[in-house]
Amino acid sequence: MDKYIVNGGEKLSGKVRVHSAKNTVLPLLAASVLTDEPVTIRQIPPINDVENMLRILAELGCVITRQRDSAVIDSSNAASHEIPARLTKELRSSVFMLGSVLTRFHRAKISYPGGCDIGLRPIDLHLSGLQRLGVEIVEKDGYIECEAGKLKGADILLDFPSVGATENIMLAAIKAEGMTVIRNAAKEPEIVDLQRFLNAMGAKVRGAGGGTIAVEGVKRLHGVDYTPIGDRIEAGTYLIATASCGGEIEVEGVFTENIAALLHKLRENGCKIHTKNDRIVLWSDGRLKSVNLVETMPFPGFPTDMQSQYVALCCTAKGSTLVVENLFETRYRYVAELKRMGADITVRGRSALVRGVEKLHGASVTASDLRGGAALVIATLKAEGQSSVMDLSYIDRGYADFEGKLRAIGAKIKRVRV
Ligand code: EPU
Repeated sequence: MDKYIVNGGEKLSGKVRVHSAKNTVLPLLAASVLTDEPVTIRQIPPINDVENMLRILAELGCVITRQRDSAVIDSSNAASHEIPARLTKELRSSVFMLGSVLTRFHRAKISYPGGCDIGLRPIDLHLSGLQRLGVEIVEKDGYIECEAGKLKGADILLDFPSVGATENIMLAAIKAEGMTVIRNAAKEPEIVDLQRFLNAMGAKVRGAGGGTIAVEGVKRLHGVDYTPIGDRIEAGTYLIATASCGGEIEVEGVFTENIAALLHKLRENGCKIHTKNDRIVLWSDGRLKSVNLVETMPFPGFPTDMQSQYVALCCTAKGSTLVVENLFETRYRYVAELKRMGADITVRGRSALVRGVEKLHGASVTASDLRGGAALVIATLKAEGQSSVMDLSYIDRGYADFEGKLRAIGAKIKRVRV
């Protein structure tokens, strides 16, 4: 197990280029079994969640060839419809395999998915959507077994615009007979990118980015060579770190409109921000003023995946911020660790009241989920003195070369074996 040693108090300055978005690459990998022809995905981030997804594909019988930062997935000999339980436990996104494996084999078997413990994270919307397409589902002994003689297009209204359920239904509908309409669909940029990817394979999907997605079933899909969009959450993490510590950063590779809600808040905090195409330049004096309220919402609202990092910034802003987490029930576990560094935060249910303090002090803290882990690193960069951040396995799920990119902008952070 590794840990970070961080010497805080440095300003950050320089340039960071983000990797492809984890939350796009994962459904694209799941979608690669939809065709017999090779699928190339470029700029794949070297993170644990992606490695686990590639392992799942290999267990299904896909041949994976890695070339620098690309992966070529050849599913022509894929033969298994069972997603192995030991990998499902590691990776929640394994549930996306249901839709594509059903399209490919007309059956699928998966155990209940794992992932970061940030809430209940049920999959009822995925399953009811699949049932509307004609899938028969039996749940027993912790496994979900799905069978579909013929997938048939349907009109599906989601009770909540779930990202994963929208993606799974898109993947199951892609070759279904007739038209599928997904209403109250998630609008996240990752859904738009999945549509672009599927259409590049010959699918007929439209409407992604709006609330209604229409999928007209096609007979066959072909191979594709694809570069996914940049990771808006990775970009946001470096922007927040620099905003909090002070300094100037240029983040490359993410479209401004995909991260507008965060930029809006950071400007209110007192940061100066310039944007052009896929570049964002942020300047901060490191003495931010707090904003009154931040509420997480589905896109285009403030993303839940940036809530923890933003709370880390609020810890030393002047004044108080009320943060409301509307997506996940238990996404404040990292707060106890921030308090060990001197943060003044009260959590009640879905709300956290963060009262800005003059400074944080170094401490030994432990990550318990991906974004919470990133928040702890941001806080240790801001804190006076030395800190250690334990249990990097969570951070490794979603950030490629986190310490390397932070060091490149002046952070005093190193990774050591415990
Ligand atoms: N929900 C249900 N039933 C369902 C599905 C979801 O009640 O069948 C609820 C969830 O419990 C949650 C809310 O709907 O309260 C939102 O969940 P959603 O399905 O939208 O999230 P997800 O697909 O499981 C993806 C990202 C998450 C990100 C959320 C929200 C991937 C691989 N994961 O998860 O990313 O937080 O959307 O934007 O795309 C992360 O990267 O750290 C991360 C957790």
